[in-house]
Amino acid sequence: MSEIKKVGIAGAGTMGFSLAQIIAKHGYEVYLYDIFEQALEKAKKIMKLNQETEVKENILTQEESDALMARIQFGTDPQGFKDVDFLIEAILEKIDIKHKFWSETSKIVKPDAILVSNTSGLSITKIAEVIVNPERFGGMHWINPPHIIPLVEVISGEKTSDETASTVYEFCEILGKKPVRIKDAPGFALNRVQFAILRECLHIYENGIASIEDIDKVMKYGLGPRYAVFGPFEVADLGGLDIFHNISSYLFADLGTEKDSFGKLKENFENNHLGVKNGAGFYDYSNGRDMEVIRYRDEMYTKVAKVLFGQD
Ligand SMILES: NC(=O)c1ccc[n+]([C@@H]2O[C@H](COP(=O)([O-])OP(=O)(O)OC[C@H]3O[C@@H](n4cnc5c(N)ncnc54)[C@H](O)[C@@H]3O)[C@@H](O)[C@H]2O)c1
Repeated sequence: MSEIKKVGIAGAGTMGFSLAQIIAKHGYEVYLYDIFEQALEKAKKIMKLNQETEVKENILTQEESDALMARIQFGTDPQGFKDVDFLIEAILEKIDIKHKFWSETSKIVKPDAILVSNTSGLSITKIAEVIVNPERFGGMHWINPPHIIPLVEVISGEKTSDETASTVYEFCEILGKKPVRIKDAPGFALNRVQFAILRECLHIYENGIASIEDIDKVMKYGLGPRYAVFGPFEVADLGGLDIFHNISSYLFADLGTEKDSFGKLKENFENNHLGVKNGAGFYDYSNGRDMEVIRYRDEMYTKVAKVLFGQD
């Protein structure tokens, strides 16, 4: 672990710029890379907003925030990965794009650098097929926004060495995160749960059972506060397993079983309504609502994290 001094991050999108902040906050030098200069410019703008929130919430002083930002270099040259000890890839979630990136980059980096993908659920074994020295490669799945949310899934592919997985796990702990070890299954654990919820929410909406706004309220005011404290097995134990067993017996059969993206999610995607990132999705984010919602999210998640985990 002591050999990790400089961390490379590929992709300065939603995940990349947030990762750069949490890693630089812990004293590491960071090289944040993107193929597009404009992506780096947008990243700088949102990082400034994130840092303002951290200072306002007394998580960092202005000096600490300035020092953190000074540790981050921005660039569009992959040669910047030459001297990194740890490289996190957070580029587009497409296997051919990830393959092209890794086949080129794993030849540039030092032969003993630890390499990880932040894929949301693509096979780590499959991504590793093009990587030079694949035993040093594994999955490191962060949760958005990673500078606030504690969980990281550490995934071993068929060729990932135990040493690599242990180093990634320990690195998460150094960064103050809560890592879990997960088998290389599609979606790992978190996204299997998250997408089971999203599919059911879409199913409820498409079947006229509740509106989008009311389904969001069900989560925000019902399940959300509960799951912020306990996991589903703990919740079931607290509720009584006889009750949960009996409800499962009649309800499982009625839940959605759609096998592909559908309904309002598919429709939004086909109309290029991608959510906060381009101003419209299930809700409207035009006229500055995009920055407003990011600021609100960061403030609220930070407050929740402070209460639950004493995170500073
Ligand atoms: N957004 C989330 O909630 C979330 C959560 C966990 C994991 N992930 C995963 O993290 C990765 C990135 O997701 P995101 O939401 O940050 O995406 P994003 O679309 O916001 O950003 C991706 C960035 O990668 C850049 N990029 C594309 N191809 C590149 C290349 N070859 N080299 C360098 N940069 C390149 C793009 O210009 C863009 O700036 C994906 O694998 C995604 O599945 C996303």
